[in-house]
Amino acid sequence: MNLKFLMIGIFQCLISSFQTAVGTCTLPNVFRNSVWHDSTRGDLNFTNSTMSGWQTTAYSQSISQWECYIDSHYESNGYLIFKSLQKVTFAGVNFTGYMCMQLTKVTDYSFYYYLLYTQQHNAAEERILYAENATSNVSSICITSSKEPLEQFHVLIKSGYEWEARQYCPTPVLGNFDYTYTGSDGNAYCQNSSDQWRVCSDRQTMTFNYTTCNKIMAYSRGGQVWCVGTVTSSYTFFMVYNNDSSVDGSATFRFTCFSISPDGLKASMVQNNCTENQIPSTFAKRHDGQDMGAKLIMTPYLTCPFTSATPKAENVNVGAVVGGVLGGVVLIVVSVGLYMFYKRNWRMKRSSGQDPRSNVADVKAHNAPDPRTGHGQVKANIMLNLSPREDLKPTNDHSSYENHVPGNECKSPMQSFGSLHVDDYDGQFSPRVIM
Ligand SMILES: *[C@@H]1O[C@H](CO)[C@@H](O)[C@H](O)[C@H]1NC(C)=O
Ligand SMILES: *[C@@H]1O[C@H](CO)[C@@H](O)[C@H](O)[C@H]1NC(C)=O
Ligand SMILES: *[C@@H]1O[C@H](CO)[C@@H](O)[C@H](O)[C@H]1NC(C)=O
Ligand SMILES: *[C@@H]1O[C@H](CO)[C@@H](O)[C@H](O)[C@H]1NC(C)=O
Ligand SMILES: *[C@@H]1O[C@H](CO)[C@@H](O)[C@H](O)[C@H]1NC(C)=O
Ligand SMILES: *[C@@H]1O[C@H](CO)[C@@H](O)[C@H](O)[C@H]1NC(C)=O
Ligand SMILES: *[C@@H]1O[C@H](CO)[C@@H](O)[C@H](O)[C@H]1NC(C)=O
Ligand SMILES: *[C@@H]1O[C@H](CO)[C@@H](O)[C@H](O)[C@H]1NC(C)=O
Ligand SMILES: *[C@@H]1O[C@H](CO)[C@@H](O)[C@H](O)[C@H]1NC(C)=O
Repeated sequence: MNLKFLMIGIFQCLISSFQTAVGTCTLPNVFRNSVWHDSTRGDLNFTNSTMSGWQTTAYSQSISQWECYIDSHYESNGYLIFKSLQKVTFAGVNFTGYMCMQLTKVTDYSFYYYLLYTQQHNAAEERILYAENATSNVSSICITSSKEPLEQFHVLIKSGYEWEARQYCPTPVLGNFDYTYTGSDGNAYCQNSSDQWRVCSDRQTMTFNYTTCNKIMAYSRGGQVWCVGTVTSSYTFFMVYNNDSSVDGSATFRFTCFSISPDGLKASMVQNNCTENQIPSTFAKRHDGQDMGAKLIMTPYLTCPFTSATPKAENVNVGAVVGGVLGGVVLIVVSVGLYMFYKRNWRMKRSSGQDPRSNVADVKAHNAPDPRTGHGQVKANIMLNLSPREDLKPTNDHSSYENHVPGNECKSPMQSFGSLHVDDYDGQFSPRVIM
């Protein structure tokens, strides 16, 4: 009798622990009990195992409460799978939402992510799986071939650490510019003036002076935003954060995504995140095809004379790149040599009136006038490894990734911004990591 009860007890215990293990997970440490600014969704509130604030609608019913569902693929490829705590009812059936985020760490206080699922035309075009019955099949929730396009990346910044999330602005925007602004209404503004869009005084900050043209730039009333992340294909897509004391969600926003041409002469901006195929000469598009944001044409007064092509080299994991101390010594010698070579080269270019924005990424640009060919990338690759700029270096926090192996940086979800490159832009993006 006793034995029978004991057996049943053990059995029930096993079942319930099995259910707990499948049904919920504990969020990665970095997110627990904290609030994060999502470039697309506003503020997300994480507890140990739940997340609220990521709001969506399906069949006219709202979902904004989620719980951590599967985290077993987080360390290997950055997947975090959430399950909706609210259900939506359609045709008498209750559906649960399953959302797969692929996260990439940028700094200790910022990430970017993509959703991995096909767009649901009958559920607000969101990339969420709605299922009647529980599923724990990761490959049916995270469909890698249905990942959001490269340019549509979303950024997360931990509340209170916005300043720490700053990154160098990408090379094409390193200048002080006059600009014209074309709104989605088709009207052009800022045409006759000597407008000021400045990056040269602080490589992580873009400032706008609204005296000559009062069109709000980067949705910032204060006219000052911080670069927080970049992805690159044939064009450069970068996100800025607006630290204004408040934003209203119509004229002003926390985040703006810019798509900019490699020569820094054209850009397209939109609030929250770039949209699919948002190239610098086109407007961002809503799902219904309507134009959003603004197009900009820039004329540089000055390209920033950042002579520190020699980066702040501290914390760079050179050893992992080359594979040891010996490699490191050789590397330093080579680096110094290359630095002197490029410094001299840079002076020559500068005195011959060429673009003084001579830095690592420009080496690539100079060698590859047509970024579609991919020529010059090998050289850029070498340069990146030898002397990564602050904004190009991997920000890997190896300690929090147990299975990290040197040389495997490319596969790590901790890969930094600035390392995704795409060959052959034909309206479709297929990212290739070159670092
Ligand atoms: C986040 O959620 C927790 C638990 O629901 C709540 O106690 C806390 O006030 C929330 N914080 C914010 C900033 O919304
Ligand atoms: C969150 O997790 C920590 C550490 O695992 C634990 O000490 C704490 O009690 C948990 N808090 C809640 C509200 O579950
Ligand atoms: C759907 O959910 C509602 C509310 O929780 C519940 O009353 C109903 O029985 C559920 N329907 C099915 C088919 O499970
Ligand atoms: C969900 O489970 C119920 C009960 O097992 C089953 O009748 C139904 O067909 C399942 N639905 C799907 C979509 O598999
Ligand atoms: C998981 O889902 C994939 C894709 O839908 C499918 O091919 C595979 O058979 C499923 N695996 C299991 C164990 O159900
Ligand atoms: C630019 O100057 C022209 C001619 O001086 C004037 O007609 C036009 O309104 C000005 N445009 C703007 C946007 O100020
Ligand atoms: C903005 O431009 C005006 C006119 O050129 C100038 O007087 C003012 O000092 C500038 N403001 C800032 C903050 O640079
Ligand atoms: C950013 O905004 C917060 C909240 O308004 C403020 O406390 C902080 O000082 C600002 N930081 C900077 C560097 O302006
Ligand atoms: C941002 O991303 C969402 C998908 O998460 C997409 O629907 C939307 O069009 C993108 N752009 C803007 C400006 O919201």
